[in-house]
This record gives sequence, structure tokens and C-alpha cells, in this order.
Amino acid sequence: MNKPRNNIIWPESMRTGVDCMDEQHQTLADMIRLADARLQDNSSRDIDAVILDLLSYALYHFDTEEELMRRYDYHFAEREKHCREHRRFSAAITQYQQEINQGQSVSGSELLGFVREWLTLHILITDKRLGKFLSGKIETSHD
Ligand SMILES: [Fe+2]
Repeated sequence: MNKPRNNIIWPESMRTGVDCMDEQHQTLADMIRLADARLQDNSSRDIDAVILDLLSYALYHFDTEEELMRRYDYHFAEREKHCREHRRFSAAITQYQQEINQGQSVSGSELLGFVREWLTLHILITDKRLGKFLSGKIETSHD
């Protein structure tokens, strides 16, 4: 059996301790794994579908986090910084989508590599900082 090339390693260190965030991160990681399996042939139609799926789930996920920041009154400057990272990611994905729509060829593995790298760094630094702030304020996982 072939191992997906863009498999996200999901170490304990990536857990934020906030169940809904961790579950959604896991779903994003699963989507990347599945997308990678579908993109082996580099077909642009498949890439387009993958981008749409990833973008819509990522936007939903960002809404979840941003709602938590508002509800629990996360420090304004931290919130701005965090949301700016979300917007930058969305803009990059939209750019990929426009390139596809204009008939330019987009490398699926390059796209997934970007998503994987962005997500890993964002979770490890920015989301974990939010998780730490939220810990004790909402029901978080302690296992
Ligand atoms: Fe985030």
C-alpha cells in the first residue's frame, strides 16, 4: 500500500487542548491526506475540487476560532494578528483558485505542501497560544 506523500504527522504537541479546535484541525489534516491521494494524477479538475473543499472547510474552521476569540474576549492585538493569518491563508488559496480559472497549471503537490506547512506552523504557534488563553475558560480536553 502506498503511503500518502503529504501525510501530516499529528503529534501530541499539536493539540491545542480545545476539543472543537483539535477536532477541526484533525479533519483538515484528514482532508489533506485524502486530497493528496486524489491528486496523484495532477488533474486540474481534481485540484479545483480540492481547493474548494479545503477553502470552505478552512473558512468554517476560522469562523469557529474567531467566534471563540470574540466570545472569550481574546486580547485585541492577538485577535487581530490571528485573524490576519487566517485572511492571508484564504487569500493565498483564492489566488491558486484564480490561477486555475485562468487556465494556468497549478501543481497539486505544491498546493498541498503550502497548506500543510501553513497549517502546521499556524497550529503550533498561533492556535496553541489561543488554546492556552482559552484553557480554564471553556471546557477543554485534559487527557
Ligand atoms: Fe487559527
